[in-house]
Amino acid sequence: MNTLEAIAGRRSIRKFKDAPVSDEDIEAILNAGSQAPSGKNRQPWRFVVVKEDKRAEMVRTMRASIDQLEEHGVDIGSAKWTANVMDHAPVTIFVFNAHGEHTPGTPPWDDEFDVVDVQSIGAAIQNMLLAALDLGLGSLWICDVLYAYDALCDLLKQERQMIAAVSFGYPDEQPGPRPRKPLSEVATWL
Ligand SMILES: Cc1cc2nc3c(=O)[nH]c(=O)nc-3n(C[C@H](O)[C@H](O)[C@H](O)COP(=O)(O)O)c2cc1C
Repeated sequence: MNTLEAIAGRRSIRKFKDAPVSDEDIEAILNAGSQAPSGKNRQPWRFVVVKEDKRAEMVRTMRASIDQLEEHGVDIGSAKWTANVMDHAPVTIFVFNAHGEHTPGTPPWDDEFDVVDVQSIGAAIQNMLLAALDLGLGSLWICDVLYAYDALCDLLKQERQMIAAVSFGYPDEQPGPRPRKPLSEVATWL
């Protein structure tokens, strides 16, 4: 599989087989993330791997926060559905920004993120998705974890800014390509 084939063949996977992912594969994915380019080579990404016993606690924590938000009338979008996906993923890697700050009590989507470090972290995550594909694993990039920001940071003992999580596992579905806007809509040639 060459790079263009990998980019075209990657899909968000939301159904995983109940089969463990080896620590070697997890390490290969983390290494791929660390190979990403970053502004001033700051390498702002920090990873927290959640698997096995911690997985149930992580999902419980996320569901409790989402339920609380819902009770307070916050639109939680797809967060419940995403929590179900995470419940069945053998591994979830949380990605933090070592230099980012989060104001406690403020929803993270209201915070000013350092735009350069966040771009670097996005590149790291994409590398991880492509590395997973190469290893025969499926992946899902997840920002719904931000709905449970404080509780998950507490659980993971992190004071850094949480950016996203990515769930990994052997795929138990083969979704077709999701629609993309035509280049004529998203690119301008001068
Ligand atoms: C920044 C970002 C956040 C995302 N958050 C979620 C999420 O919380 N839950 C989810 O099911 N999918 C999430 N996705 C996956 C997108 O829904 C998916 O990439 C998009 O629908 C296109 O599908 P594809 O990845 O199969 O091409 C996220 C993707 C990105 C890049």
